[in-house]
Amino acid sequence: MEDLIQKTAEVLTSAKYVVALTGAGISVESGIPPFRGKGGLWEKFDPMEVGHIDSFMKNPARVWKIFMGEMKTILAQAKPNDGHKGLARLEEMGILKTVITQNVDGLHQLAGNTDVIEFHGNFAWLYCMACGKRRRTVDVDLSQIPPRCECGGIFRPDCVFFGEMIPTEALERSQEAASRCDLMLVVGTSAVVQPAAFMPVIARQHGATVIEINPEPTPLTGMTSAFLLQGKAGEIMKKIIARLDETAAAKRRS
Ligand code: OAD
Repeated sequence: MEDLIQKTAEVLTSAKYVVALTGAGISVESGIPPFRGKGGLWEKFDPMEVGHIDSFMKNPARVWKIFMGEMKTILAQAKPNDGHKGLARLEEMGILKTVITQNVDGLHQLAGNTDVIEFHGNFAWLYCMACGKRRRTVDVDLSQIPPRCECGGIFRPDCVFFGEMIPTEALERSQEAASRCDLMLVVGTSAVVQPAAFMPVIARQHGATVIEINPEPTPLTGMTSAFLLQGKAGEIMKKIIARLDETAAAKRRS
């Protein structure tokens, strides 16, 4: 593992344009459950029942109650962990340019990353399905389910449900970043939901090195990624940053 950390630090230092693709796994150490695997949301709920736009349209109150009510409490308390902070440090060092995230938790922005493409939207904002008015989720009273706008319309979160399109700008900017980068860090995603999972493939096809950070192998492992740093995002990112700091300090001394 130490060899791979060293190798990652070297590739990060020599890369010209680094992009990160993140998924639910990077927020697990912040107390937000992932979707798949042990303890995942989809173990508790059927994704087609709570995560599909058709279910929401059919019965918004039910979806609000069982899924978003729970998420709002979790998200309101979550703070960035060493995984998010590490990516923010990489931007501060001038190494990382863009984060493409599938997460709706806003933790990359809280950690300090300034160019975050929210591929699946976010939970920080809601909008009225009747008049389009936008409101911050924290300002909306969720004791009334489904929450309603002054106009009487129902609020929905500004996130992407199954069955919906990825916002055009997010998709186009992600494709551009993936084709442009020479290194893509893929952190905490099972890489099974498209088209997000295709971004590392685009990067690879354009000659970039792809490095994964995940406790488990994914469909990208051994196919698209050069190697897998196997472990928790927070722990691995902390080691990478420490190695980069050591290298920079040694350079200053010499
Ligand atoms: P998943 O829940 O599918 O995958 C989470 C990944 O994180 C798995 O590969 C885990 O092995 C890994 N993981 C778990 N703990 C970790 C840790 N501490 N550090 C790093 N990795 C860890 O989440 P996503 O890939 O983000 O879509 O799922 C993609 C999309 O599926 C989501 O954006 C969501 C969901 O349905 C929508 O809501 C549209």
